[in-house]
Amino acid sequence: MTAVGIDAIEIWTGNLKLDLPGTFAPQKGEDPEKYTKGLGLNASSFPDSYEDIVTMGANAAHRLMDRKGLEPDDIGRIDVATESSFDNSKPVSTYVAGCLESVYEGDFHHANKGERKFACIAGTQSLDDAYNWIRAGRNRGRGALVIATDTALYARGDAGEATQGAGAVAMYIDEDPNLIELSAKQGYGSADETDFLKPNQQFPSVDGKRSVQVYLARMREALEDYESVAGDVHPDDFVFAPFHTPFPGMVRKAAMLAYRHVTRDTAVEEELAEEIGRQPRREAFDDEDAFRDAVREYMDALKKTDRYQEWYAETVDPTLALSREVGNWYTGSVHIARASALKSALESGRDLTGETLLVGSYGSGAQAEIHAETIQDGWEAEIEAMNVDEQLEARYDLSWEDYEEVHDAHNHEMDVDVEEFTTPDEEFVFDGWGRMGERK
Ligand code: CAA
Repeated sequence: MTAVGIDAIEIWTGNLKLDLPGTFAPQKGEDPEKYTKGLGLNASSFPDSYEDIVTMGANAAHRLMDRKGLEPDDIGRIDVATESSFDNSKPVSTYVAGCLESVYEGDFHHANKGERKFACIAGTQSLDDAYNWIRAGRNRGRGALVIATDTALYARGDAGEATQGAGAVAMYIDEDPNLIELSAKQGYGSADETDFLKPNQQFPSVDGKRSVQVYLARMREALEDYESVAGDVHPDDFVFAPFHTPFPGMVRKAAMLAYRHVTRDTAVEEELAEEIGRQPRREAFDDEDAFRDAVREYMDALKKTDRYQEWYAETVDPTLALSREVGNWYTGSVHIARASALKSALESGRDLTGETLLVGSYGSGAQAEIHAETIQDGWEAEIEAMNVDEQLEARYDLSWEDYEEVHDAHNHEMDVDVEEFTTPDEEFVFDGWGRMGERK
C-alpha cells in the first residue's frame, strides 16, 4: 500500500519574544529558575499587533508552498486547527485561502476547507482527517494543507501567563511523503472535562493544576488503548517521543508516566527491580491513597536511575528544544516537538530513515491520542529547509511595558491602532477588517 503522511512542514513564529527569566520573573517577583527549571521555558513567542492566527497560518503555508513549488491546484483540502478562532461561522481556512489566492495564480475553489476544534489535539485530528481523505481515495491526486495556528495568550496574573506562545505550523499531507508516514493505528483516551475553557472569551478559564492531572490521565488511557491495537510498546521501539508540550515540565511528567506504563511486566521492569523494586500493583493495596503514595515513591526512584535518565535524554529531551524558546502553541505544539527532535538529529548527523516516533497528542476538554509514525528517506532535506533558528533570532525582545501594551492590543478589538514593534518583511499582515491578510 502506498505510504500516506507528512511530506513537508514549515514553522512560523510570532515576531516578538518575552524573556521569562530576564523580564517576566523580576516583574512577578519569582525566582527565574521557576520558569527555566520548573516549567522548562526560556521565552515565549508573541504576536506583534499586526499578527494573528490568519497571518501566521498564511505565512507558514506560503513558505511551504513556495519551497515545494505547490500551486493552488495541487491542494484539494485546507484544514485549520485552532483554539483561538474569532469567527463562529466562516472557518479560518477560508481567510488563509484568501491570503494565498492574493499571491498565487489560480484559486482554491475546488478545495474542501474546514476548521477543526478540540483544543490542542485539533492539529493531530486534522492530520488524521487528511490521512483518511487520501486513504479513502477522495483526493483526486491532490494533497492536503493542514495548518495549526494559535495565539496562546492568558489573562495577566493567571498562572498560565508564563506558558504563553504564538505561532503556526503548516504541513502538506500527501502520498509517498518525504518526511513521515502516518499509520492507521491509534489509541484514544477521552472524557468530558472542564479544566480549560474559552466560552466566547479571549483568554481561557483554566484550573492549571487540575489540567495537568487530566492530561496525564487521558494520556495513560490513550497508551493502553494504543497497545490494545498495536501490541505492547517497548521503550526502545522508538527514537523519539514527541508529546503535546504546553511547557516542557509537563512532558517530564508525561514521559515518566509513559515509561512506567510501557515497562510494566517487561524485562526492563525486572532489571530495574533489582535497583528500585517492582512497580506497585493496584490489587496489592486496599487503600487508594496508600497505592498512590507507593506509585509516587516508585516514580521518584525511577527518575533517578541511569537507565531512565539515558532514555529521557535520548528520546524525550530533544523534542523540547523549540518549545523552551517559544512556549505553548496549542494546536501546533506537538508538531514543533516532532520538528525539534528531527532537527536535533540532523544537527548531530544521525540517520533516522525507517525509525519510529511515538507521538502523544492532547487537547483539554479532554482527549489524548497516541500513534506511531515512520521517518521517511527525504526527512533530512525537509528539516534542513526550515529556517526556524533565523526566525527565533530575529524576534524583537519585549520590555515589560511593551509586553503590557501588545497584550492589551490582542485582548481588545482587532481593529486597533497600536505600536508595531517590528516591520513586516514580505509577509501577510492583519491591517484591519476588509484589509486583513495583505502582504507587506
Ligand atoms: N526552581 C526550580 N523549580 C521551581 C522553582 C524554583 N525556584 N519554583 C517552582 N518550581 C517548580 C515547581 O516545583 C513545579 O514543578 P513540579 O510540577 O515538577 O513540582 C514547577 O516549577 C511549576 O511551579 P508551580 O506548580 O508552582 O507553578 P504555577 O502553579 O505557578 O503554574 C501551572 C503551573 C498551573 C501548570 C501553570 O503554568 C498553568 O496554569 N498553565 C496553563 C495550563 C497548562 O498548561 N496545563 C497543562 C496541561 S493542559 C494542556 O496541556 C492543554 C494546554 O496546552 C493548555
